[in-house]
Amino acid sequence: MRFDVVTLFPEFFESPLSSGLLGKAIVNQIAEVQFTNPRDFALGKHRKVDDVPYGGGAGMVMKVEPLFAAIESLPVYPKREVIYFTPQGVPMDQAMFKTLLTYDQLILLCGNYEGVDERVMTLVTREISLGDFVLTGGEIPALALINGTVRLMPGTIGKEESHQCDSFEDGLLDFPHYTRPPIFRDLEVPEVLRSGNHAAIAAWRKQQQQERTSDRRPDLYEEWLKQSNCD
Ligand SMILES: C[S@@+](CC[C@H](N)C(=O)[O-])C[C@H]1O[C@@H](n2cnc3c(N)ncnc32)[C@H](O)[C@@H]1O
Repeated sequence: MRFDVVTLFPEFFESPLSSGLLGKAIVNQIAEVQFTNPRDFALGKHRKVDDVPYGGGAGMVMKVEPLFAAIESLPVYPKREVIYFTPQGVPMDQAMFKTLLTYDQLILLCGNYEGVDERVMTLVTREISLGDFVLTGGEIPALALINGTVRLMPGTIGKEESHQCDSFEDGLLDFPHYTRPPIFRDLEVPEVLRSGNHAAIAAWRKQQQQERTSDRRPDLYEEWLKQSNCD
C-alpha cells in the first residue's frame, strides 16, 4: 500500500517512520510513504499557504489552490481514499484500520491553523478524528493511522508479537502480561501462569479479559456480551 501524506511539515515524520517495527516495515517495503508539501504548489513570491478567514475571526485557514494542486499532482491508484484529519470526523479505531488495509493508496491530508478551506472537502472521501480533543495539526493523527494500519500488514510484526490476541481483536481488551523474574520485590507473577497448565492459563486469561473490559470499557463489554449471546 502507498500512503501519500500531504503536509506542510514532512520533517515531523522522519524519526517515527524510521524507528522500531514501523521503520523496519518501511525499509522492507511492506508499505511505501511519500510526502507532498502544499507549499511547493503555492502561488506568488512568498508561496503563501494560508490566509485570513472570510467573515473574520481569529486564526488562519489553509488556502484552497495549493491543496487542490498538491492532491491533484498525486498518482491515482485503482482503490484509493482521500482522508482529511479533523476532530469533526469519525473516530479512528481498529476496525477502521482493517477496512483501510483493503485500499491501494491512502492520501492523508493534514490540516493546520484553523483547518482547510471547506472547498477542499470536495476532494475528500473520508474524515477521521483521533479523538475528542484539538491538536495543532493533522500530523499526529496521520502517524497514528500509518502506524496502526502498517502494524496489521503481514510481515510487520513477528509471530511472537501476533496481533490476534490484542485488545479489540475479539471485542475485549487484552489480558495482563508478565515476564521474568517470577518475584520482583513483593510483586509476584500469578501462580497459574507458571503452572504449565495451558487450559487453566487460557481460562485465566479469558476471565481477566472480561473483568478488565467490564471495569474499564463497559460500553465494549455490553457489545461483547450481546455478540456472545448471538453466537
Ligand atoms: C487547530 S486544528 C483545527 C480545529 C478546527 N478549527 C475545529 O475546531 O474543528 C488544526 C488541524 O489539526 C488537525 N486536528 C486537530 N485535532 C484533531 C483531531 N482530534 N483529530 C484529527 N485531526 C485533528 C486537523 O487537521 C485540523 O485541521
